Amino acid sequence: ATRKLLLLPGDGIGPETMAEVRKLIGFMNESHGAGFEIEEGLVGGSAYDAHGKSISEEDMAKADAADAVLFGAVGGPKWDSVAYDVRPEAGLLRLRKDMELFANLRPAICYPALSDASSLKKDVIEGLDILIVRELTGGVYFGEPKEIIDLGNGQKRGIDTQVYDTYEIERIAGVAFELARTRQNKVTSMEKRNVMKSGVLWNEVVTRTHAEKYSDVALDHMLADAGGMQLVRWPKQFDVIVCDNLFGDMLSDVAAMLTGSLGMLPSASFGAPDGKTGMRKALYEPVHGSAPDISGKGLANPIAMIASFAMCLRYSFDMVKEAEMLEKAIADVLENGLRTTDIAAPHAETVSTSEMGDAVLERFRSL
Ligand code: NAI
Ligand code: MG
Repeated sequence: ATRKLLLLPGDGIGPETMAEVRKLIGFMNESHGAGFEIEEGLVGGSAYDAHGKSISEEDMAKADAADAVLFGAVGGPKWDSVAYDVRPEAGLLRLRKDMELFANLRPAICYPALSDASSLKKDVIEGLDILIVRELTGGVYFGEPKEIIDLGNGQKRGIDTQVYDTYEIERIAGVAFELARTRQNKVTSMEKRNVMKSGVLWNEVVTRTHAEKYSDVALDHMLADAGGMQLVRWPKQFDVIVCDNLFGDMLSDVAAMLTGSLGMLPSASFGAPDGKTGMRKALYEPVHGSAPDISGKGLANPIAMIASFAMCLRYSFDMVKEAEMLEKAIADVLENGLRTTDIAAPHAETVSTSEMGDAVLERFRSL
């Protein structure tokens, strides 16, 4: 089988961490006959420098033709003053919009070796493995009207509108239930139906979708504010959490910080299944940005990027065994005490980006 991957390393530490994934791809092609066909493109500031746009039409076409896109990070002080519509972030937004990536997945996993690094008690987070599924293309981020009105008496009015249609809730719920089946078979849906009409509809549509197609999965409903509290109090009660764009943004940041460093956190975004192949459009990226403060120094932690590639293996290519091996390789390397500076104790010995990447590859090779 050929597996078409588009690599968009981007700016700052994006290319440094993507280099470590490239090593893994090379190894899997040579030794596992994985058949990855790699295309490369430019996004963000590097694309702007090359052709004055944050992503070219040619690279958009490559994204459309690929089975999956691996994205590094974009942005940096060098491009702080470029025009709004060609700023680095515009490239990522364009990809999300054109690929219609409506489902954003953010796992929060606590690696045993790092269970002391969280600010929470060890027994609260040890063994934690939850997945937040955030709706990404609707809700208050895009609803109309969205404006600031001058009321004329020295007062202004800021307006955002939360809008959800049935089909948008159905499809994100479907993704959450399908993912739950591959995990602990449990979904918690979070909204605020007590104060929001869109929350009432959300609750109704999730409940109906569950009854019609996914009644084998356990379903709970929780008000989103209470859910935030429960996430910090006892996160292990959750398996898959599904919520709208805004609640998902906040709850996934909370969940992320249960586990420690930004340099550890992967994510995936899915679109609709392709009519012909049944494959979902998908983009995989670390949660972190381009980290200009450490870029070019070999200090970046490549694990978030590598773990994003593991998600790609699992969800786009059904290479579940390889994904698990790669995740085990990461856990083992941490268990052996290897630390990049972001996850190291003060004054502890640290390794570089490529040393961490090599160690994960070495361990993966031996599994
Ligand atoms: P950031 O995530 O780039 O960095 C925040 C802090 O975490 C920094 O101290 C950084 O050194 C550290 N950090 C991040 N990733 C790390 C890694 N892999 N290993 C070790 N340390 C790591 O967020 P910040 O500083 O707010 O933004 C920097 C630039 O990145 C800005 O231009 C911003 O717009 C852009 N950005 C891009 C994103 C994307 O491409 N998806 C997401 C977030 C920010
Ligand atoms: Mg956020």
